[in-house]
Amino acid sequence: MGAGRYQMYNQNGFKLGLFGANCSSGRAINKLPERWSADWQSCKKMAQLADEGGFDFILPIGRWKGYGGPTNFQGTTYETVTWATGLLAVTQKLTVFGTVHAPMFNPLVAAKQMVTADHVGEGRFALNIVVGWNDPEFQMFGQQQREHADRYGYGEEWISAMKQMWSRKEPFDFDSNFLHLHNVVSEPKPWNGETPFIMNAAASDVGRAFAMRHCNGFFTSFREFDVGRATEIVKQVKVDSRALGREIDVYTQGHVVCRPTRKEAQEYFDYFTTEGADFEAIEEILRLKDITRANTPDYEERRKKVPLMNIGYPIIGSPDDVAEKLGRIHNIGISGIAFSLVNYVTELPLLVEEVLPRLKAMGMRA
Ligand SMILES: Cc1cc2nc3c(=O)[nH]c(=O)nc-3n(C[C@H](O)[C@H](O)[C@H](O)COP(=O)(O)O)c2cc1C
Repeated sequence: MGAGRYQMYNQNGFKLGLFGANCSSGRAINKLPERWSADWQSCKKMAQLADEGGFDFILPIGRWKGYGGPTNFQGTTYETVTWATGLLAVTQKLTVFGTVHAPMFNPLVAAKQMVTADHVGEGRFALNIVVGWNDPEFQMFGQQQREHADRYGYGEEWISAMKQMWSRKEPFDFDSNFLHLHNVVSEPKPWNGETPFIMNAAASDVGRAFAMRHCNGFFTSFREFDVGRATEIVKQVKVDSRALGREIDVYTQGHVVCRPTRKEAQEYFDYFTTEGADFEAIEEILRLKDITRANTPDYEERRKKVPLMNIGYPIIGSPDDVAEKLGRIHNIGISGIAFSLVNYVTELPLLVEEVLPRLKAMGMRA
């Protein structure tokens, strides 16, 4: 992969990305007045701060429908490939992903959209594939979700077709189980003729196997209490992908609250995950997973945990604490983290000024 495909292959041993900024409230299910609006001017400002500050990537969420509640959590969302294209036009160095639901995007339209983004960014576009889970979103598209294994069966054909569109010069047919495409041509090819960096966001073993066969990265969730399990999974991904003759990076997700003191950070985190949380939206998220008061004896406990579960690994504290926690993730063998903030614009400067230099001093970044 040439120096052009750029921030995902740079010298930073541990990559830093911002996650979820294309959605209102980002990933924190909160009612605070400063919660993220996700309007274009704010997104643009965030991207430029991150780019100038030395972040490696920006990763959106593929989301089509909000969760209700007083804030309609994630009810306002930019479609991610067009969002990435706009951000690539106003930044210089960082990679911007599209998070794309394979079943909802015709592969030829998707392949060409992504090439457009990649040319605008001169090789800085990357793809995060999701196969989806949320029924009301599929219903909006007039689709029924496939059985779990078939979701990846379809994904496998979808990405294989797309890779051919990105590389083959002559017209070709792609006739498979789910796709029947005839006399396909797709020009131009991605920037420098190189396939963009591809991740798969998943938790299951099937999703992990899909990532190992077809992607450059596996994007998954680990929480603080399963560091042992995370270490095991990362080791296994490395061993299994090498057996397939491939090298796969493992990425994870989290949420950062960094303040000058640990006390301030912890108080803010405690507030927006309890009193400041949007519990009506939280109940809807549980309902979508078929968890209700009627069928779940420990419903109240589950409900309280959602604001924490939703944001993944919590990285809370002073700049020293945040750097130390990121170091722990790096030591597991994870290649990078995509994290959210309650407000991406107001919270970025402290990270750039205080945390990034610490990571450099720790040898995690060039
Ligand atoms: C880290 C991570 C990020 C994800 N991001 C999204 C997303 O942006 N949109 C979405 O609809 N699903 C997202 N998902 C869910 C995926 O769509 C995936 O289909 C779901 O986890 C079910 O597949 P699995 O059983 O292999 O995990 C994400 C999953 C993980 C683990």
